[in-house]
Amino acid sequence: MTAAPALALQGVTCSFADRGHAERLYTAVQDVSLAVAAGEFVSVVGPTGCGKSTLLNVAAGLLAPSAGAVQVFGQPLAGINARAGYMFQAESLMPWRSALANVMAGLEFRGRLSAAEARAQAEDWLRRVGLGAFGGRYPHQLSGGMRKRVALAQVLALDPDIILMDEPFSALDIQTRQLMENELLDLWQGRRKAVLFITHDLDEAIALADRVLVLSAGPASRPIGEFRVDLPRPRDVAEIKTQPRFIELHAAIWAVLRDEVLKGYAQQLQAVAP
Ligand SMILES: Nc1ncnc2c1ncn2[C@@H]1O[C@H](COP(=O)(O)OP(=O)(O)OP(=O)(O)O)[C@@H](O)[C@H]1O
Ligand SMILES: [Mg+2]
Repeated sequence: MTAAPALALQGVTCSFADRGHAERLYTAVQDVSLAVAAGEFVSVVGPTGCGKSTLLNVAAGLLAPSAGAVQVFGQPLAGINARAGYMFQAESLMPWRSALANVMAGLEFRGRLSAAEARAQAEDWLRRVGLGAFGGRYPHQLSGGMRKRVALAQVLALDPDIILMDEPFSALDIQTRQLMENELLDLWQGRRKAVLFITHDLDEAIALADRVLVLSAGPASRPIGEFRVDLPRPRDVAEIKTQPRFIELHAAIWAVLRDEVLKGYAQQLQAVAP
């Protein structure tokens, strides 16, 4: 018998009330099935607005799908996904808490550790993301890259079995981004959690993942391509991009993604027009 996947979306459809047309429904994603095995790193790419964040919200249990179901390690998900940690697309640090207090927050709310234990673990995670000396700083006193590191420590400190990441590094400059991607890979390599990683950057998707899923442009977005990334690990994200196999995979996936990206932009332009 094979083990149940860490995360499985089964026939997930999400419809929203259409802007300005309350009587109409906009179906963002339709009949999406995808699974992430324990310890597997899966990237999802797709054009802007296709429904990537929507799917992650469903996986996190923050959004109930209009149809379909979610299973977590073989169990139906009801409510918040307690086995998952979520790194949001938007910045989500609490501005009134120091970096250390931000990382401690989740550990405190969970209530399994004493304050001293929570502090020790949070300090340890800040060190691991290279911010051991910055625990006392508030979010506005940190650079964008440092804030992302704190957010990463915040999620990893909870030691979730499933990590959901929504374009976590897209706001960073390219050098910082590569550093963070390598750090994420190192941390993941050590602990092998199931990761569902959303990005619209195909290079990043391939460099990090075991598998890349391509979503079609919306409405009614669904997976239209699946590619196994058979590149060796451990990887260096800058180096791996020069390998012939990487370039081959990139060309194959881009052939599927390109038309969808063009459709996605065309739709957004239409939506803006009066
Ligand atoms: N709560 C909501 N109410 C109405 N429409 C929504 C809601 N959430 C998402 N949508 C719509 O569903 C579609 C998918 O949105 P989503 O945020 O999942 O896209 P995305 O793929 O994450 O985009 P991006 O790459 O820009 O982050 C969009 O058309 C969006 O406007
Ligand atoms: Mg999004």
